[in-house]
Amino acid sequence: MIRSVVAGCGSYLPDRVLTNVELAKMVDTSDEWIRERTGIVERHIAADGQKTSDLALRAAANALEHAGVKASDVDLIVLATATPDDTFPATACRVQAELGVTQGAAFDIQAVCSGFIYALATADNFIKAGQAKTALVIGAETFSRLLDWTDRGTCVLFGDGAGAVVLKAEQGQGTNADRGILTTHLHADGRFRDLLYVDGGPSSTKTVGHLRMAGREVFRHAVVNLAQVVNEALEAAGLSQSDIDWLVPHQANKRILDGTARKLNIDPARVVVTVDRHGNTSAASVPLALTEATRDGRIKPGNIVLMEAMGGGFTWGSALARW
Ligand code: UT7
Repeated sequence: MIRSVVAGCGSYLPDRVLTNVELAKMVDTSDEWIRERTGIVERHIAADGQKTSDLALRAAANALEHAGVKASDVDLIVLATATPDDTFPATACRVQAELGVTQGAAFDIQAVCSGFIYALATADNFIKAGQAKTALVIGAETFSRLLDWTDRGTCVLFGDGAGAVVLKAEQGQGTNADRGILTTHLHADGRFRDLLYVDGGPSSTKTVGHLRMAGREVFRHAVVNLAQVVNEALEAAGLSQSDIDWLVPHQANKRILDGTARKLNIDPARVVVTVDRHGNTSAASVPLALTEATRDGRIKPGNIVLMEAMGGGFTWGSALARW
């Protein structure tokens, strides 16, 4: 069977670092509260005029270089974002043009913080169906543009950034010894859409709007849904918790990462954590974490890597891969 093998990954973070101490001068919060409740110490913020596509392009170019793949070989670009440059066309099309790619499909996916998992599953299905051979899967966000900077309950949580992976079609045996993506599972339950949303949009208010969240409720659902989706992936692949070399979760809150690892009996030393330095970068958080752990030598070829995420919608899902 055809497998989508991760040939390389890359990332980009804007230069500007916003610390908790600076935030404490803007809203009624403290470095101590943010660290204790979220594990976040700092986050990156895009410069004025720096768009989601600018971040995405840098991450994509970085991933192509790491993979040793030429842009002209890319025949699919799937870009996950909830903060597109414009309402349309897709931010993926801008990235495609900037890379000089003129073949294949390019489109955006909107599943908020689960966006990268949704994008990875989509690209994997295109590759397995024989409709693409070399895919760029990107998660890129400028959430700073959606934040209400007077709302301490949300503005301290998010950051900007982008990450990308290159997937290549390779022949596998159809067993979990194959390299590449072994399983993906996607979920949504729109009944919970009002717990995490943006209060604007082209068809409702004709404005962009601001992010609104019932944090405690989202937290409660996240730990339950993420544990469930990890177990679902392991069961489908015939693997157990102890087979996971690296858990690469969406980075929303260190307490969610710890709670999920505890519930699943996974050694915290095998969980990749970037939330302390990146905050929650929505669809960019998983590929940012993947890139960090691959480049620093933690994730090695042959490792079992389990990615998971949960976000607005609610949407949630997992992707299990042998690196
Ligand atoms: O990526 C998509 C998924 N998103 C998430 O997974 C986020 C999930 N939620 C969370 O991470 C947490 O719920 C938060 C970090 C948002 C909040 O932490 P919490 O422990 O659930 O706090 P809380 O909302 O229950 O608020 C506790 C108190 C409140 O004060 P009172 O009502 O107890 O007097 C808040 O007003 O903390 C207050 N508070 C703050 N205080 C200082 C809320 N935000 C802040 C703040 N600084 N930034």
